[in-house]
Formats: sequence, structure tokens, C-alpha cells
Amino acid sequence: MKRIAVLVSGGGTNLQALIDAQGDVLHSGKIALVISNVEGAYALQRAKNADIPTETVIKKVCGSQIAFEDRLLSLLEQYEIDVIVLAGFMTILTEHFTGRYPGRILNVHPSLIPSFCGEGFYGLRVHEAALSYGVKVTGATVHFVNEVCDGGQIIAQKAVPVLEGDTPETLQRRVMEQAEWILLPQAVETVCNGLGGNEYECI
Ligand code: GAR
Repeated sequence: MKRIAVLVSGGGTNLQALIDAQGDVLHSGKIALVISNVEGAYALQRAKNADIPTETVIKKVCGSQIAFEDRLLSLLEQYEIDVIVLAGFMTILTEHFTGRYPGRILNVHPSLIPSFCGEGFYGLRVHEAALSYGVKVTGATVHFVNEVCDGGQIIAQKAVPVLEGDTPETLQRRVMEQAEWILLPQAVETVCNGLGGNEYECI
């Protein structure tokens, strides 16, 4: 059983999808820690409701990007974490952090990478950009995290239609329901399972 840490910043619906998948779709790993970089994020409450230990690490309090990443790294070591999932974690991590866990950090992004990704594309902004471009299909991507923002190897993708009259909010909801909440637990299972010695395969 791999020990998973989920890093969050907000509402935590993707964290909830992972919690709900435990023992079912997600059976090769268990969520052993949830870390928020935002004080009082609702995701922390979701973790507490599921009896999962939580920690909060605030960049400003740490004083620098490196000190922030060092604090995260020391918590991951303390909780003996094998796999890290960025689930709505709205801050960029540098190679100082990502280089320590090659092939063991996943991120869920609410578009079909390489569209509408990279610095500045996060949360509702991604859906605003998709709508203003006028794409007819968008979706979600789960990928490995490396030093390039949204640039690591793609693990899984799912397309979702854009509908007439969509707002960023309606599109975000559809992408979550039809893609993110399904793909993320599957991809985390695939990686946890692969780390167990099986051949790793993209979905
Ligand atoms: C999700 O749509 C996730 O894909 C996105 O933020 C939302 C978080 O929602 N992440 C990014 O944009 C990262 N670049 P949640 O807190 O309810 O899981």
C-alpha cells in the first residue's frame, strides 16, 4: 500500500473524489496526509471528516520559495509519503521540490494539455480561456509533475464537450464531473500500482 499525500488550496472536490475512491478504484494506495497552502481551505475539513491528518504550510510564513518547499519536503518525509497528488494546488513548485520525487508527483489540470495550460492558467481562468477561444471540446489531464509548469508526461486525458450558453462555472462543473473526478483516482491507482513493481502504463 503506497502512502499518498494530497496537496490542496481550495474546495477540495478532487480530494473528495480520491477519498471516495479509497478501497474501490484506489486500492493500491491510501491517503496518509493532506497539506494545504491556504489557511482554512475547505479541503482541510474534507480530510478531517475522513480522519486524514492535515498540515498547513503558508509560503509567506516560510519566508521564501525554498523554505516553503523545504517545509513540504520535511513533512512528506515525516509521514513517509511515496506518491504526491496536486489536487487544486494553486502554487508552482520548482525543481528543488519536483526533482526529489521523479515520476511520483501527479497533477490534475482542467483542460486538454497542451491547450490552456502553463503559468497563469489555473481554476476558472482555464475555462474562461477555453470559452473565449471558442473551442468546442475541452477536458481534463492528469500528468506527472516536473520542473516545467504543466509540462510533465501525460498519464490520462478525457474530453468533455463545450455547450451553447456555457459559463466558466458550468463548464468547470462539467469538466470536474465528467473528467477530473473519474480520471484522477484511476491515474493515482495506476501510479501506486506501478510503483509496486508492475510495468507502468499510461491510461
Ligand atoms: C480543479 O478544477 C483543478 O483541476 C484545478 O483547480 C480546481 C480545483 O478544484 N487545478 C488547476 O487549475 C491547476 N493548474 P478542487 O479544489 O475542488 O479540487
